[in-house]
Amino acid sequence: MRVLVIGSGAREHALLLALSRDPGVTALIAAPGNAGTAKIAEQHPVDAASGDAVVALAQRVAADLVVIGPEVPLVAGVADAVRAAGIACFGPSADAARIEGSKAFAKDVMAAAGVKTARSEVVDNPATLDEALDRFGPNWVVKDDGLAAGKGVVVTTDRAAARAHAADILEHGHPVLLESFLDGPEVSLFCLVDGETVVPLLPAQDHKRVGDGDTGPNTGGMGAYTPLPWLPADMVTRIVDEVCVPVAAEMVKRGCPFSGLLYAGLAIGADGPAVVEFNCRFGDPETQAVLALLESPLGEVLNATATGTLSSLPPLRWQDGAAVTVVLAAENYPGTPRTGDSIVGADNDGVLHAGTKVVDGAVVSAGGRVLSVVGTGADLTAARVDAYAKLDAIKLPGGHFRTDIGLAALEGRISI
Ligand code: GLY
Repeated sequence: MRVLVIGSGAREHALLLALSRDPGVTALIAAPGNAGTAKIAEQHPVDAASGDAVVALAQRVAADLVVIGPEVPLVAGVADAVRAAGIACFGPSADAARIEGSKAFAKDVMAAAGVKTARSEVVDNPATLDEALDRFGPNWVVKDDGLAAGKGVVVTTDRAAARAHAADILEHGHPVLLESFLDGPEVSLFCLVDGETVVPLLPAQDHKRVGDGDTGPNTGGMGAYTPLPWLPADMVTRIVDEVCVPVAAEMVKRGCPFSGLLYAGLAIGADGPAVVEFNCRFGDPETQAVLALLESPLGEVLNATATGTLSSLPPLRWQDGAAVTVVLAAENYPGTPRTGDSIVGADNDGVLHAGTKVVDGAVVSAGGRVLSVVGTGADLTAARVDAYAKLDAIKLPGGHFRTDIGLAALEGRISI
């Protein structure tokens, strides 16, 4: 099977690496890829948000399966274009990708499916913003009702900060979503979904704030670990039964069945899981940790989902132990990152590339999240030691990372 992976982040590097371990995958192509993916895949430039461009490339490289990593092409309908050209595609249609592309649509689906989530209101008129803000608090959750790469969310007890963020979103011409605050630790559960068939992967936890101790602004994600030692043993089954299966069934009922990866971002409260958000693709940086433990052949798994045969796939097999991803970010991320710095150790084992490119034969930074370093081990302690030892061997001027990925779990500071 010849597999074309669309995207250029560490998530796509992790997908390509896991695909390269599948004996059924005979060729790997990345587009546009990065300096790391170039080492394991044939690489081509592409306008990833253009269905025509992706189809033309898939035909040129004779891809049997196209895997679309990021949300932007999915929301733009690139998976529809690939399927219309007769090529199997892992990723939902534009209609189904609204589960991420429109938070208002996701709320509507959840209401119809009886899935627990935060109370919410959409504000599209600045004149009604203040009275709407008064209906929320003392913790305000302010989101951009569109794609914002994880950075469009502000959670604050400061009403003025909540108002300023909402006003900024409105000024950019987007509606604002106000939500009640959901208490409880967060879980990312990725599920393969093919119509009403739902197969969960290992649960993971992201660390979204830039600084240790969950301080500073939100980012696209600074690190993740899997599995979650504090999560009750029955919780994945509860999330699947109470959240993912009802949503998948509701989407089938609405005529927009989901095919691909449904990412449920949840808060686990005393009375069970509640949805913070859905995404229509693998999460970054959780994927880097989750796929490090996958033993099943990923090409077969993704192809079964893409071709409507997920229900006959054998149960997924996982390596024992734990995995930790730590993101190395460029100076000033999540603001405007400094780029163009040379990186030492970028080709080491366990190092996945995101914002990198090759200039004059040297790997240099080319984005905010530059590398994801993945450690594995018999348990979370060992996986953390492995990840941070690998990070020690990397040098990026001005680079920064969190030192506490997975630490609260390890120290027993997470409870439901
Ligand atoms: N882990 C956050 C995201 O992928 O959106």
